[in-house]
Amino acid sequence: MGRSEVYPDHTALMRAAAQHFATIASDAVVMRGKFMVALAGGNTPRDLYLLLAQRWWRTRIPWDKSHIFFGDERCVPAQHPESNYRMVHEALLGKLVLPAENVHRMAGELDPQVAAAAYQQEIVRTFGTTAKAPPRFDLILLGLGSDGHTASLFPGTAALHESEKLVVANYVERLKSFRLTLTLPVCNHARYIIFLVAGESKADIVNEVIGAPDRPGSRYPAQLIRPTDGAALWLLDRAAGHKLPPVVA
Ligand code: 6PG
Repeated sequence: MGRSEVYPDHTALMRAAAQHFATIASDAVVMRGKFMVALAGGNTPRDLYLLLAQRWWRTRIPWDKSHIFFGDERCVPAQHPESNYRMVHEALLGKLVLPAENVHRMAGELDPQVAAAAYQQEIVRTFGTTAKAPPRFDLILLGLGSDGHTASLFPGTAALHESEKLVVANYVERLKSFRLTLTLPVCNHARYIIFLVAGESKADIVNEVIGAPDRPGSRYPAQLIRPTDGAALWLLDRAAGHKLPPVVA
């Protein structure tokens, strides 16, 4: 399940997340000459992206050697209010000097199956791997839904059983829509996974997912994220982490 860090408030959490992000990015560039990251969508990471765009952090991250991918995307055009790309572009990417070819957007406007296949090809081309060998992201940033989903790996959906493809179009009955998402093989091959979770509304699911992971029967998608030889780090504010047993926090 990885280790967790609980911060006193939202501001401290985002600062800590920015520091982890910057450290992983800088180390990746020193060791391998580039930083390959997949960003999370939803609301929680927006404040992190706004922070990373601020001069102090912006100048400490090797953006020119970074490739920005997305962990998942809604099946909507880039300018749609629901688009994760739109949120990340407004909060961060639009404020950076970054080679356009280093930003790898999931094409939510396309047919979901076409978009998933195209993104898989983009990953393979950028990493220089084959579809059989999962690419090794330096960092995949993830959120946690109240139902225990992460990225667009929702409970009871087909994507949870995907063991070969890197990217799939995943139909989510509850949402009555498709989502594009990285799959478990990709996530579990990452060097670092960071779950960024904030707010009282997540306290119960956080405790369910990492408070007693061996509880029989509890199998949330987020519990299936177990990097094989990487590290999973849960970054929480106290509101999200206060129900954890002391030893976990
Ligand atoms: C998305 C995300 C999703 C998100 C969780 C938490 O596209 O919405 O990838 O997995 O991380 O739903 O969302 P919040 O941060 O908005 O609570």
